[in-house]
Amino acid sequence: MSGHTDMVLVDENGMRIDGRTATEHRPIKIEAGVLKNADGSAYVEIGKNKVLAAVYGPRECHPRHLQDPTKAIVQCKYNMQAFSVSDRKRPGTDRRSIEISKITAEALENVVLTELYPRASIDVYIEILQANAGTRCAGLTAASVALADAGIPMRDIVPAIAAGKAVGQVLLDLNKEEDNYGQADVPIAIVPSTDEIVLLQMDGNMTREEFDRAIGMAMNACHEVYDLQKDALKRRYSANKTEEAEADE
Ligand code: CDP
Repeated sequence: MSGHTDMVLVDENGMRIDGRTATEHRPIKIEAGVLKNADGSAYVEIGKNKVLAAVYGPRECHPRHLQDPTKAIVQCKYNMQAFSVSDRKRPGTDRRSIEISKITAEALENVVLTELYPRASIDVYIEILQANAGTRCAGLTAASVALADAGIPMRDIVPAIAAGKAVGQVLLDLNKEEDNYGQADVPIAIVPSTDEIVLLQMDGNMTREEFDRAIGMAMNACHEVYDLQKDALKRRYSANKTEEAEADE
């Protein structure tokens, strides 16, 4: 987020380097139930981001001292593969992955009916296979589809997307160049049925008016992501039904 580049991030016609207008998100693809051995899973592409999420549980919580006798806890592990970025990333946990794991688990705890499973743990694994800015949002979007695919009771699913600012303009869903040379990045996640915000971060600076515009833009886009999440789950559900019917024949 250096704020300066010779690259033309938005041209005189308002077009961004990947051909989008200010209010357009990158192409999004969501698939539910992609891993056989997980209780639930999902694969998400948002532009060049490629993300896998796997869910296990509810199962006995380990380490045991984290058990809560009144409810389940959601544990999340966000991991960026060494090959996911152009300069090889040092493998393993770092401060950034700890932060993203924490905010993802907290966002999901708002929707999972944790009180149904005292002492249990619901474990969410997010693997970033290819990164191009916006991976925490893609990861959270995938994780909530994976939770629903695992059949975990939830009051809603959580879509996430970022808005930000580059070359003085408020833009939806910043790509890597816009994120690198822009002035602000604001990832958000919501509970669509109530429009509650369950994740909100801000890197960089914006005026109050720009911030309000960014939030409005991201919230609208979250509702579009939500529709794609539901479509993925419906496709998964009808594929299951077909498999069951074939097995019965
Ligand atoms: O991915 P997200 O926008 O949620 O988080 P970020 O910390 O703002 O990172 C923005 C982007 O920087 C990532 O999506 C990656 O493309 C890139 N990045 C990287 O190349 N190497 C890292 N160690 C971390 C991030």
